[in-house]
Amino acid sequence: MMAPNSSIVALMIPVLLISFMRAASAANFYQDFDVTWEMAAPKSSTMENFSLYPLTKHQVRVFSRRTNTFFGKIDMQLKLVPGNSAGTVTAYYLSSQGPTHDEIDFEFLGNLSGDPYILHTNVFSQGKGNREQQFYLWFDPTADFHTYSILWNPQRIIFSVDGTPIREFKNSESVGVSYPKNQAMRIYSSLWNADDWATRGGLVKTDWSQAPFTAAYRNFNAQACVWSSGSSSCNSNPTSNSSNSWLNEEMDVTSQERLKWVQKNYMIYNYCADSKRFPQGYPPECALNTTS
Ligand SMILES: *[C@@H]1O[C@H](CO)[C@@H](O)[C@H](O)[C@H]1NC(C)=O
Ligand SMILES: *[C@@H]1O[C@H](CO)[C@@H](O)[C@H](O)[C@H]1NC(C)=O
Ligand SMILES: *[C@@H]1O[C@H](CO)[C@@H](O)[C@H](O)[C@H]1NC(C)=O
Repeated sequence: MMAPNSSIVALMIPVLLISFMRAASAANFYQDFDVTWEMAAPKSSTMENFSLYPLTKHQVRVFSRRTNTFFGKIDMQLKLVPGNSAGTVTAYYLSSQGPTHDEIDFEFLGNLSGDPYILHTNVFSQGKGNREQQFYLWFDPTADFHTYSILWNPQRIIFSVDGTPIREFKNSESVGVSYPKNQAMRIYSSLWNADDWATRGGLVKTDWSQAPFTAAYRNFNAQACVWSSGSSSCNSNPTSNSSNSWLNEEMDVTSQERLKWVQKNYMIYNYCADSKRFPQGYPPECALNTTS
């Protein structure tokens, strides 16, 4: 993952099961988000029609939410770079800072016109990633806005597309795997050139005559515990308030069926099934994250 703006200070936070707040959705884009590098401003102060585009090879366009999230359920609608987007990566992710950072990633790998995007996902805990799963989508993500969501609670991380779960990463501390729960994270999005690896493993390069590459965003929404000045906006007893239910959310039977459907029909890479990469055996969390 490209390093986001390093001016954002890492916060190391003791584990406390904190309280909860239903954070407001982004009513005013500039109140809620920091924008790094030059980019297309939305016409109004809302996120609607906000777009992000790199003009040159070495530019990375980033925006990040000002608040630190410590567990949350976030939704963003994105409409990806249309036409020939080969070589570009649009990323939308949660990350903390520093060498032992945690990170939860959605990355959209562009392609030639008419060829499918790859949705690449990863989870880092304590600086360790290498937990990739990749998917094709069951629709054209450039034709319209679709909702991409991350649920991050103490028990699990669930990635969803239009409400359909595509991946679950369970808290696997019981088998000795660290879990993102000690550091607050921020929400970022970025658009950058990665034509050394993104499209068909780097075979297809970015066609700069197609620049600027524009991804559009709208309707950001977060239910999240917000961390500021050493304390959390959440209450100490999250289960007492039904609007906090995301903090204990898990997949029901229908969601599990949907997840299986996606993994069977659209998953194109799973590190937990890559025996060449792990000749000594799969990472321990793989045993807990199987869907079959
Ligand atoms: C639940 O939490 C929300 C947001 O913090 C608050 O507005 C609401 O009054 C709470 N409801 C109850 C029953 O405590
Ligand atoms: C966003 O774009 C749509 C379609 O071009 C337009 O109808 C709408 O008014 C725009 N919204 C804003 C806030 O500019
Ligand atoms: C791009 O299209 C090719 C050909 O269909 C496909 O093999 C590849 O997985 C697609 N996506 C990316 C990001 O390379």
